[in-house]
Amino acid sequence: MDKKSVRDLDVRGKRVLVRVDFNVPVKDGQVTDDTRIQRALPTIRYLLSEGARPILISHLGRPKGERDPKYAMDPVARRLGELLDVPVLKLDDAVGPEAEEKLNSWDGQGVVLLENSRFYPGETKNDTEFSKQLASLADLYVDDAFGAAHRAHATTVGVAELLPSAAGLLMEEEIDYLDGVLKNPERPFVAILGGAKVSDKLGVIKSLLDKADILLIGGAMCFTFFKAQGYEIGNSLVEEDYLDEAKQLMQEAGDKLVLPVDVVVAEKMEEDAESRTVPVDSIPANQMGLDIGPETVELFRGHITDARTIFWNGPMGVFEIDAFAKGTEGVAKAVAESGATSVIGGGDSVAAVRKLGLEDRMSHISTGGGASLEYVEGKELPGIAVLPNREGA
Ligand code: 3PG
Repeated sequence: MDKKSVRDLDVRGKRVLVRVDFNVPVKDGQVTDDTRIQRALPTIRYLLSEGARPILISHLGRPKGERDPKYAMDPVARRLGELLDVPVLKLDDAVGPEAEEKLNSWDGQGVVLLENSRFYPGETKNDTEFSKQLASLADLYVDDAFGAAHRAHATTVGVAELLPSAAGLLMEEEIDYLDGVLKNPERPFVAILGGAKVSDKLGVIKSLLDKADILLIGGAMCFTFFKAQGYEIGNSLVEEDYLDEAKQLMQEAGDKLVLPVDVVVAEKMEEDAESRTVPVDSIPANQMGLDIGPETVELFRGHITDARTIFWNGPMGVFEIDAFAKGTEGVAKAVAESGATSVIGGGDSVAAVRKLGLEDRMSHISTGGGASLEYVEGKELPGIAVLPNREGA
């Protein structure tokens, strides 16, 4: 990574404002998936071990610039305290006189967690005044929130322009793995894309067709490709407006783009629906495709087994329903067994890998959904662009 790292900063005795991505699911006052908190621990522990005073800030959910108790950081603070085993002082504000007063009387033990940054309208507007208020709380700024790096907000960009800044250890790991895949992959490099819509992933498809040796496409988006090939797709999801685009992509990609050969169909997307497997050119009119079929899993497995580098984003079917989860499971297992460098790009594919208990078999699981896709697309993420480069880089 060319960016300055937290390890390049002299943090001893300093107040360090750390932007983390603690945007985690919360139900009945409990964090139901603490992965993002766990992944921020190395940076927090590093800062503590170096004698710094970490002041953490994150957004949670999408409150509209005002306080909303549903999105208060208290459940996150509790979980963080359990995981860190040091005191977590949770403040009810992110900026302002009360936050300042509490920080001034803080004994410096453990960490401080500020209130949800999106309780303030200045956050998403990247407002200068709000950024200045945040910057006044600390001596240094560390960005460890890869998952929010595609947002040009006050806590990801504004404050980085006002304080000496660096990337945290998680941010560094994310950049190193994604750059490894995109800039210098060991070949063959096989990319796997799933998900519902071609429109959401057009940029990513184009970027991966450029960089990968093989692009395997599953998920509901393959039906737009099938329709573009002239197949009947029954009641399967389709984006009529993208048929030309899909046709053009297939022409340009040639053999590089590999589509399913069979699919699992049912009349409805429900647990008890009767399902069967059909070839892709024989989808009945009253049925919809909800997963890739077993022949496709074998086809994909062949490519995955040959791969030395793999990037995967998006499930192969409706994996939340067991009857339509086998395609995603088959792909996840093949990736785990491949021995290749495997990078899982955020969102539902991560949930699928976790459901199967295969997390430890993947080289890197990104904490960013939207952020990792934009990165793979080749877009410059504002939260990364703003961080200074290491000297000489
Ligand atoms: C995410 O969950 O992808 C990040 O935390 C960004 O959240 P946002 O889409 O609400 O900006």
